[in-house]
Amino acid sequence: MFSKAIDSVESANPRHIAIIMDGNGRWAQKRFMPRAFGHQAGVKAVRKIVECCAEQKIEVLTLFAFSSENWRRPEDEVSLLMGLFMATLQREINKLDRNNIRLRFIGDRSALSSQLQAKMAEGEKQTQSNDALTLVIAVNYGGHWDMCQAFQQILNKISTGELTHPTINTPLINQHLSTHGLPDPDLFIRTGGEQRVSNFMLWQLAYTELYFTPTLWPDFDPDALTEAINSFKGRQRRFGHTGEQMFNNSVIP
Ligand code: IPE
Ligand code: IPE
Ligand code: MG
Repeated sequence: MFSKAIDSVESANPRHIAIIMDGNGRWAQKRFMPRAFGHQAGVKAVRKIVECCAEQKIEVLTLFAFSSENWRRPEDEVSLLMGLFMATLQREINKLDRNNIRLRFIGDRSALSSQLQAKMAEGEKQTQSNDALTLVIAVNYGGHWDMCQAFQQILNKISTGELTHPTINTPLINQHLSTHGLPDPDLFIRTGGEQRVSNFMLWQLAYTELYFTPTLWPDFDPDALTEAINSFKGRQRRFGHTGEQMFNNSVIP
């Protein structure tokens, strides 16, 4: 009986939702269309999900748009994705700004075209004082890259004397990750049916609730998002404590 009561404890809304938007190619193939068609449909789904998160007062939404491994795709698909990314930024930045949404990018920008890098910097600058949703787009992002660049920054600070004999601990690593200043994701969603993390936010997902759905990304709509959020709310996050401790509210995670 007690355990039933424990199970009924509801979590609050997630502060940070991180999504692997997978399944665009299969969505198009099912319709006998080229993969590009699926990526275009994927952009439409992004727009709706961003609007929905803003309405639901989610603080941070991180979207995995292009992984450090996606360069392995055929050259024409890679250029299509880069072109789509540029066109979407050109079209959407003002709208995001009007909606008080802050834009931020994570990932290794150095491999991207200079025009794209400039547009990304412009979007970040234009929206930097917005304080509704923070929309984080992961482009040429990999969890391994993120940790390596954090360790490299720490090393550089040691060699210049900015850091003297630092203790390597969680706060120090957090401060140097590309996600510094953001809360870790509470809810991770992967569409498209695969149940893997594919090198996404490896450090930051340590205690994130994972949600996998077979729905292909272009079909992932606000109802599907609400279903994922409801699944999250029905879970008890224990962070190593016992269920009883959490139920008695004797611990604040
Ligand atoms: C996700 O959809 C989009 C990107 C990785 C850019 P996919 O293109 O991976 O779609 P599937 O997995 O082939 O269906
Ligand atoms: C993960 O999807 C990356 C993005 C959605 C941007 P992939 O389709 O590239 O992942 P794998 O290769 O199947 O693991
Ligand atoms: Mg895929």
